Amino acid sequence: MMKIGMLTSGGDCQSLNASMRGVAKALYENLKDVEIIGFLEGYKGLMYGNYKNMEPRDFSGILTEGGTIIGTSRQPFKLMGVPDEKGQDKVKLMKDTYKKLKLECLVILGGNGTHKTANLLREQGLNVVTLPKTIDNDIYGTDITFGFQSAVNIASNAIDCIHTTAASHGRVFIVEVMGHKVGWLTLHAGIASGADIILLPEIPYDIDKVVDAINKRTKEGKRFSILAVAEGAISKEDAALTKKELKKKKAKSIYPSVSYEIGARINEKTGQEIRVTIPGHTQRGGSPCPYDRVLSTRFGAAAANLILNKEYGYMVGMKNGEIVKVPLGEVAGKLKVVDPNSSVIKEAKLIGISFGD
Ligand code: F6P
Repeated sequence: MMKIGMLTSGGDCQSLNASMRGVAKALYENLKDVEIIGFLEGYKGLMYGNYKNMEPRDFSGILTEGGTIIGTSRQPFKLMGVPDEKGQDKVKLMKDTYKKLKLECLVILGGNGTHKTANLLREQGLNVVTLPKTIDNDIYGTDITFGFQSAVNIASNAIDCIHTTAASHGRVFIVEVMGHKVGWLTLHAGIASGADIILLPEIPYDIDKVVDAINKRTKEGKRFSILAVAEGAISKEDAALTKKELKKKKAKSIYPSVSYEIGARINEKTGQEIRVTIPGHTQRGGSPCPYDRVLSTRFGAAAANLILNKEYGYMVGMKNGEIVKVPLGEVAGKLKVVDPNSSVIKEAKLIGISFGD
């Protein structure tokens, strides 16, 4: 009997269930005697031995279902070394559960923080295989993560809807897009939905350049402008501050988010009416798009294949359209950011999109 533990950790996204289904189906199909244990609410379930013995039927009918059937939670990597409320060592707790259940390996689905902890468990001698999950698409070692394309669809749809009302009223609209510290989601949704100005954390903006782009459109007789702004967008002045100075400045800010500050500054400088829309967590919700369903099925099958070959310590990823295995030590602690000099940015600029730089 081979016992495999599985967990989903960090913020959820649309294709987690489809990915787990891919792993499970391939394991059930190719192993005579396999048991899958689903740890509830991510690493917390592994720490405290909260789990469910999964059955093949648990993985049926979930290809199109958003969220995660085993739940998730945020367990920050930086707190893994800090004992829990009862003074217990979290890493030891996880190792003990793994050993007590006599697991062959752990299948971990998660984003950047999750990968740091997965790598820590690998260093502690556990067999680990991971799958790259996040709407942010910021995991190093893979061209794309599952969840990203579904979120691009939702954010694009939000901007599409704003287009018609912006055109009717002749206003400046700002749509704030998720993505944490990177701009992949904003860049793709912005291009896909014809945003006029796209502001990303990787390209600090100059508010006067943003205003120039709006004024240019007004002069051309266009009655509205749409900005796709990443939640992590940053001005040139703020980018020049130290981490400490920026934190202090943010703590004093009267604006609930970056878009409101940008909106207020545009209003001051142009007198134009501004509206801010934040689709927020809708970007992580609902059914995965067909692209993600295919990607998750491939990632899931590839992860199962690593287990069949007893190849541990890898994340499955995608490079140039091919499935690859990337050593966890290479993935953990790195961020995949948008390159301001990449061709997609150059092409967007060629068609007149402003990045405020
Ligand atoms: O990492 C996914 C993500 O949705 C980010 O885009 C966003 O910054 C963050 O999670 C929101 O986290 P929470 O769900 O904890 O509010």
